[in-house]
Amino acid sequence: MKKEISEELVKEIRNISSMSSSDIEKMIEIPADSKLGDYTLPCFRLAGLLKKNPKTIAEEIAVSLNIGGETAVIERAEAVNGYLNIFLNRRLYVTKIIEKASVKDYGSSDIGKGKTICMDYSSPNIAKNFHVGHLRTTIIGNSLYKLYSKLGYSVIRINHLGDWGTQFGKQIVAYKNWSSKEAVEAGGIAELLRVYIKFEEESLNKAYITEKESSLQEEARAWFVKMEQGDKEALTLWKWFKEISLKEFERIYKLLKIEFDSYQGESFYMDKVPAIVAELRSKHLLEESDGAGIINLDEYHMPPCLITKKDGSSIYHSRDIAAALYRKQTYDFTQCLYITGVEQKLHFAQVFKALELMGYRWAKDMHHIPYGLVSLGGEKLSTRKGNVIYAEEILNEAVSLAMTAIEEKNPNLVNKEETAQKIGIGAVIFQTLANQLIKDVSFRWEDVLNFDGMTAPYIQYTCARAGSVLRKAGLKAWDNKEENRKDKIIAEGYLEEDSSYELVKLVGNYPDIIKDAAEKYEPSILARYAYSLAVRFNKFYQECRILSAEEGYREARVFLCLIVQKTIKDALSLLGIECPEEM
Ligand code: ARG
Repeated sequence: MKKEISEELVKEIRNISSMSSSDIEKMIEIPADSKLGDYTLPCFRLAGLLKKNPKTIAEEIAVSLNIGGETAVIERAEAVNGYLNIFLNRRLYVTKIIEKASVKDYGSSDIGKGKTICMDYSSPNIAKNFHVGHLRTTIIGNSLYKLYSKLGYSVIRINHLGDWGTQFGKQIVAYKNWSSKEAVEAGGIAELLRVYIKFEEESLNKAYITEKESSLQEEARAWFVKMEQGDKEALTLWKWFKEISLKEFERIYKLLKIEFDSYQGESFYMDKVPAIVAELRSKHLLEESDGAGIINLDEYHMPPCLITKKDGSSIYHSRDIAAALYRKQTYDFTQCLYITGVEQKLHFAQVFKALELMGYRWAKDMHHIPYGLVSLGGEKLSTRKGNVIYAEEILNEAVSLAMTAIEEKNPNLVNKEETAQKIGIGAVIFQTLANQLIKDVSFRWEDVLNFDGMTAPYIQYTCARAGSVLRKAGLKAWDNKEENRKDKIIAEGYLEEDSSYELVKLVGNYPDIIKDAAEKYEPSILARYAYSLAVRFNKFYQECRILSAEEGYREARVFLCLIVQKTIKDALSLLGIECPEEM
């Protein structure tokens, strides 16, 4: 709607400024208090351009707007302290929104048509637990994938598994010293992790001497070099660790109903690093430092980007550079996104800079999307210190709590198990997405299990409530993917009193919200929108008679329920959350 309004506004502003309607669109805001208008244009930014004070500008535009014709969406405008407060023609506006929202896949767009986005997310490390941080990138990535798909982009979902590196040398040594085939088969990742931690402790505490008189650390390094050289025993073990880990990761993806297009992780790029080294050398970018190959980034105030280690093996950075080149060649992306914790900010800055120095102009299309630190009651999560929370445990616990709640409140519900899944998993997803990504979070069980207030269960419950109104009215719920409803009622004149109008208005914001959330890489914008739509619906439900309303009002309000439910469901689905029919 901001678009239509800015188009009307620009006609008025045209004679005083050369701003385009899309410039204006970016400036339009929604006032916190709807008494101040449906929309508002702060005129402060215009002041510099027009060399007038904002108050005068607002007043001048208001005067010219108020002589607008009958077909204008803008009914009247008021200038208040440099703000141009805009009131819409309710009848026209309601009709427009209902029409727009009644189509198949409301909120979708084709702005991404023909463009490909590579998204690198989840990307857990083999033989390590899938922790809360990984849960965050998985949930965030999935939501951004859905948002971008809705906007018409083709999205490649890449799980860049951490399946290569010196740590696997350590893992092999640890396994050989302290574990067995049976133990790993029975214990899975937990057993691999147990001996890995033991390795770290042993190798830090004492210089462990083996027959060959080499320390544990050196032995581990040697195993990794063997891996890089294709040694059969080393690779067989590594592959096995990987299979065991993937089986566990897949359980989590299944709970979340998340899929990937590619599982090409770090190991896939290992043999592509020598070509990178050669290229860097020919471009005079590679320096030697203490036997290692580096790119000096002093000029950019960053520590050097490590390319190869002393023993010639590849590292995280060089594998990422190889991966970026491979992705550009394979997918010809217009954007490549990486979703990881903020602690990897420097890593990505170095990788992107390296690509830029190599002369790749598309380096500007790579973006790191960082999320804040996850702590446990303020303490850093650390696998080594045993300060870990398993993602799977969180998800299972949330589902079982949802089940308890159902048993208590609605024991006769059909599909109890399926409903508990949707509620429990939904609660965890929503909680992950409700706040700005960059904010640090302290993990607390109480939060995961909180089903009140700004939570998924509250929104899901609202959806179910709207569904029950529809059932009583003899209407089938309406899916956003279904064709347009033939029984569409254009609610002329019946949805103009405040509580219906405010609800319609919020529904009307949906397309702008989707674009905003995608542009800012911020699913929280959508999560908060879904919550506010639910709150507004409940207010409407309390304030307005629906089924018992007079003819005309009844049909219009029931239809509004239909549209609101469809919009909330769709918003939740873009977050990765499903709505139970009943709960
Ligand atoms: N495996 C890494 C971790 O668990 C994340 C990888 C992110 N992606 C990348 N291309 N570096 O922290």
